[in-house]
Amino acid sequence: MKASLVGLLAAAAAVALAHVELPAGIPRSLSEFRDKHPYKSRRSCERKTIRIRASANDTDDVADEFLQGLHLANHGGTLYLPKDKTFMIGKPLDLTFLDDTHIRLDGEIKFTNDTPYWQANAFRHPFQNSIMFWKWGGSNIKIFGEGVLNGNGQRWWNEFSGLEILDPTNAYLRPILFYAENATRLDIEGIHFKDSPCWTTFFVTSKHISLQDVACTAESKTAALPKNTDFFDSLNVEHVSVERAWVNIGDDCFSPKSNATDLYVNTMYCNGTHGQSMGSIGQYAGEKSFIRDVHIENVWMLNGQHGARLKSWAGPNVGYGFIDNVTFRNFWNANNEYSAFLDSCYFNINATTCSQYPSQVNITNVLFENFSGYTSGKYGRAVARLTCSPNAVCENIQFKNFTVTSPCGGAPVVICDGIHEDIGIPCVKATSPEAVAALKATCTTAEAALASPTPW
Ligand SMILES: *[C@@H]1O[C@H](CO)[C@@H](O)[C@H](O)[C@H]1NC(C)=O
Ligand SMILES: *[C@@H]1O[C@H](CO)[C@@H](O)[C@H](O)[C@H]1NC(C)=O
Ligand SMILES: *[C@@H]1O[C@H](CO)[C@@H](O)[C@H](O)[C@H]1NC(C)=O
Ligand SMILES: *[C@@H]1O[C@H](CO)[C@@H](O)[C@H](O)[C@H]1NC(C)=O
Ligand SMILES: *[C@@H]1O[C@H](CO)[C@@H](O)[C@H](O)[C@H]1NC(C)=O
Ligand SMILES: *[C@@H]1O[C@H](CO)[C@@H](O)[C@H](O)[C@H]1NC(C)=O
Ligand SMILES: *[C@@H]1O[C@H](CO)[C@@H](O)[C@H](O)[C@H]1NC(C)=O
Ligand SMILES: *[C@@H]1O[C@H](CO)[C@@H](O)[C@H](O)[C@H]1NC(C)=O
Ligand SMILES: *[C@@H]1O[C@H](CO)[C@@H](O)[C@H](O)[C@H]1NC(C)=O
Repeated sequence: MKASLVGLLAAAAAVALAHVELPAGIPRSLSEFRDKHPYKSRRSCERKTIRIRASANDTDDVADEFLQGLHLANHGGTLYLPKDKTFMIGKPLDLTFLDDTHIRLDGEIKFTNDTPYWQANAFRHPFQNSIMFWKWGGSNIKIFGEGVLNGNGQRWWNEFSGLEILDPTNAYLRPILFYAENATRLDIEGIHFKDSPCWTTFFVTSKHISLQDVACTAESKTAALPKNTDFFDSLNVEHVSVERAWVNIGDDCFSPKSNATDLYVNTMYCNGTHGQSMGSIGQYAGEKSFIRDVHIENVWMLNGQHGARLKSWAGPNVGYGFIDNVTFRNFWNANNEYSAFLDSCYFNINATTCSQYPSQVNITNVLFENFSGYTSGKYGRAVARLTCSPNAVCENIQFKNFTVTSPCGGAPVVICDGIHEDIGIPCVKATSPEAVAALKATCTTAEAALASPTPW
């Protein structure tokens, strides 16, 4: 998309300027202009630039230098971490003092993998018993460049193998790769989040967060899966945007949790994920939580569990709240278990317990629009499933232009329970003969590759 836009503008400029002879060395098109005045070096030249020494090897911890570099770059400067250099971080860093600070990351920031050290010394957050390598916060922070933020997750995944993060007795905690709290206007552009031990990003009590042109991957070289490596998680955030992200990880792709308002996502690829997930919310007893005003569009969901999903907790001792005004638009599904999924019986409880202690999270005004592609066949001809709670409101859930098919062949079926109004397409109860037959017809399909050429 970008390349063709540049091409068009260049062509327009060439036509307009065709008869004008410009002196040598003067750009004649936008692309020549960009070549001559690269955006990134221009931005950092305007500001004081701080450099720090790079690590000599993987045990050479430069955390102190990194911290000092950020103090020097604070209030208007840029910490520059050049290409082909690695900066090892081997102790927790409190970076919540930032004010008008840029970090140009063209090299690599990598965390040491001394798992017992980090488990004893990392910062802690009570939400789902999280630990973090560092904390970012303050205002007007930009992290940009073509570099890598490397969580060095392999050892963590190997040692966690076989455990479950939401098991209340799980004692093997793994750090979040990028954590921010009380941040205002935080922009992350270009960088590659790699191999996070656990969630990749977690934004808490923050607003005006943007992520652009970022990549996020977690790829294991052993049989241990990169579990719970969610791309995006948040608590208490407002005004978040994610544009053009490439995500290849092992859990939720974009997943705001309690208290999120005004979220905008445009153009994302998610391979092997649990979906574009609203929540889970409503986990903690007595606590209210909500997600509202969300718009997610132009996403390509491959080889994952769900395309679009909403999840709220049910069971004894859970919380309450609402999810309101969410639009999922232009979703292309390939080989996902369900293309759209609303789960009011989260987490890991059976139908009996769920109906005994139903979710108290209201779900209103949700639109699934222009969903295409195909599912994996795991649930046969059932291609979407919505389960609302008898104990909460579930209103104005709508589907428009929904053309998802099943690789098992035959008519695709959408299953709805606990929804009392028309959702815009035919929908049957899980216990209906149509749903039972559809769920029985399981089949498999090949791993999906990305459409070529890629849409950007
Ligand atoms: C790593 O680099 C540090 C700093 O230069 C040095 O003191 C240390 O001996 C090196 N360790 C290894 C294993 O090479
Ligand atoms: C949040 O950040 C602002 C400045 O960005 C600061 O004034 C305030 O004290 C911080 N609040 C907390 C709770 O850290
Ligand atoms: C979410 O907001 C509600 C108030 O609407 C508040 O009671 C609750 O503590 C907040 N949750 C979190 C996780 O901050
Ligand atoms: C729904 O959310 C969108 C942002 O995604 C916002 O523009 C719109 O005003 C919201 N609608 C209502 C009724 O609040
Ligand atoms: C859920 O909806 C019911 C009925 O409209 C309402 O009484 C209740 O306050 C709502 N709960 C929340 C958390 O908004
Ligand atoms: C519908 O979605 C498909 C694939 O995601 C996309 O190519 C198409 O442009 C969308 N249609 C509209 C009208 O936005
Ligand atoms: C459902 O789960 C509850 C709580 O774990 C358990 O006591 C009950 O036996 C289960 N019921 C069924 C039908 O599996
Ligand atoms: C309906 O879906 C088809 C298949 O994805 C797409 O080509 C078309 O643009 C969609 N139309 C609208 C109005 O979204
Ligand atoms: C999707 O993930 C699988 C498993 O990790 C990988 O083999 C495949 O190359 C990925 N596909 C894309 C398009 O990234």
